[in-house]
Amino acid sequence: MQTSELQQTNQEAKGKDSGRRVFSGIQPSGDVQLGNYLGAIKGWVERQAEKTNFFCIVDLHALTVGQDPEELRQQTRSLAAMLFAAGLNPDKCTVFIQSHVPAHAEACWLLNCVTPIGWLERMTQYKDKSANQERVSAGLLDYPVLMAGDILLYDTHEVPVGEDQRQHVELTRDIAARFNHLYGETFVIPEAVIAEVGARVMGLNDPNMKMSKSFSHVRGHAVRILDDPKEIERSFKRAVTDSGNEIRFSDDPEKAGVNNLLGIYKVITAKGNAEVEADFADARGYGDLKVRVAEVVINELTPIRQRYMEFMDDVGELDRMLARGAEQAAAVSVPKVDEIKSRMGLVLP
Ligand code: AMP
Ligand code: TRP
Repeated sequence: MQTSELQQTNQEAKGKDSGRRVFSGIQPSGDVQLGNYLGAIKGWVERQAEKTNFFCIVDLHALTVGQDPEELRQQTRSLAAMLFAAGLNPDKCTVFIQSHVPAHAEACWLLNCVTPIGWLERMTQYKDKSANQERVSAGLLDYPVLMAGDILLYDTHEVPVGEDQRQHVELTRDIAARFNHLYGETFVIPEAVIAEVGARVMGLNDPNMKMSKSFSHVRGHAVRILDDPKEIERSFKRAVTDSGNEIRFSDDPEKAGVNNLLGIYKVITAKGNAEVEADFADARGYGDLKVRVAEVVINELTPIRQRYMEFMDDVGELDRMLARGAEQAAAVSVPKVDEIKSRMGLVLP
């Protein structure tokens, strides 16, 4: 099928306004944890039918820090299964693996040539990840340009991400504007969409530190999506709180632990702050709070874990779903990368 034809049938199949494009990415490194789920994946699932959505498993980004090849392969498939298990539906949105669509690596190179190095050296994520490292790959510095390529290839309007990625989306806007200025209107200037609730789930062992996949092996830090109910309950029971007994939302760093637990409960139950606090009015101390929060988390994650197992048992089906996603993604990004090349003066074959 011709790519333009495929594009058309996709849009028809979706039968919705394809005017607004949404793109987001998630790395297949480390175990997916509650912060990823509440800060990113859950929102994707809830809004997948509204606009034209592209969700990308960014395996090329994962390579910017050392990866064990077998582990990376396993984690990439596992993440795909997780996304489908969490409810992303290939009839409603496009889910694909970044390296399956070579236009992404190509766009990165092309955009590299219009991006000043100084812009990259200023990125806080780069500074954090490169600090105290003996050797830093050129890929790590270039990471945000690859991300800019991901976003710009799809004429993306909205980029739903966690707060930590805001700076990279700002950089994407700068790169797009610079390219448009140098070569004429080519790119839509995208916007970061940061979810208000769930934007920052904190570590259970240290509520002043973001819950992160990179620390999911640290005891008591993260709740992994695939943890069994017993483990989840244990992690919550160990959660750090404070020496008081007040169960309420608060900006006080002292109460960051309780605030985090209430925040998790709030996103899952989709209740307002007052309603959440009212739910705990009869709680007997923090012990009770922890058990009840664990319970809503367990109820949310159990069906996902079950569906995940089913997908991992039928990898053939999973691979077919991913191949379909890559085809849909390429239908949009291949013509776009050709447009970029052409603007820059490359001779198209
Ligand atoms: P990463 O784990 O860095 O690949 O992140 C994948 C997505 O999950 C991004 O949109 C992140 O901003 C989001 N995310 C990661 N950790 C958290 C967290 N603790 N709270 C909220 N969102 C998060
Ligand atoms: N850098 C993002 C993260 O670590 C992942 C990512 C890669 C992404 N490409 C993207 C997010 C494009 C949004 C859009 O979370």
